Amino acid sequence: MAGVIAIDGPAGAGKSTLSRLLARELGYRHLDTGAMYRAITWLAIERGIDLNNEEALTELARETEIKFLPADSNGVCPIIVNGQDLTNEIRKPLVNKYVSLVARIEGVREVMVKLQRKMAEEGEIIIDGRDIGSRVVPNADLKLFITASLEERARRRFNELKEKNLDLKFKEVREEIARRDKIDSEREVSPLVRVEDALLIDTTDLSIEEVVKKIKTIIDKGESNG
Ligand code: DC
Repeated sequence: MAGVIAIDGPAGAGKSTLSRLLARELGYRHLDTGAMYRAITWLAIERGIDLNNEEALTELARETEIKFLPADSNGVCPIIVNGQDLTNEIRKPLVNKYVSLVARIEGVREVMVKLQRKMAEEGEIIIDGRDIGSRVVPNADLKLFITASLEERARRRFNELKEKNLDLKFKEVREEIARRDKIDSEREVSPLVRVEDALLIDTTDLSIEEVVKKIKTIIDKGESNG
């Protein structure tokens, strides 16, 4: 699929930051699919919907309008949900805690995947998530699987939260990430997997700039699938 780069990997591996920087370098759009599952989760909590009620959550996903605005000066594409900017709300700890529950529901995923494929149609896009190379755009030009050790991912997430003045303990952050990894990898529908044709990049000992450079080299060399 021309001009489509699929990036998958576990929480805190640096997918979002990497996608943002890479999108800027290449002049591509960036689609953060995690933000979409987060938006549905935030809405469900807001409306008091039982997070085990698959039917109600699927219905909520169907009736929700999700749009992204072009990237701001930080490279973040604001997410507009039913006309409301939820960019900051969806990063709150409560959403972190429950999003894996919502993301494992097939009905919700069907709606989101359909939307994601539509957004991918125009090409020149970097899409990051958990099932991008395996389900959303299996014929993407380039598929990457970005990972890092649990300790390093927890450290990055912890620093991110600290910057936002959110008072959490490192141990809690690590446990939260490990818990999410487990649910995301073991769920029945579209679990997080590395597909065979995805290039594996371990970022544990790399800075984000080094990762961007590495991927740009891969792209320039044409080491892709398309
Ligand atoms: O990447 P993130 O942390 O913002 O993702 C939030 C949650 O959504 C995470 O628990 C995994 C899930 N997710 C998913 O199941 N499929 C995607 N394509 C993207 C995210």
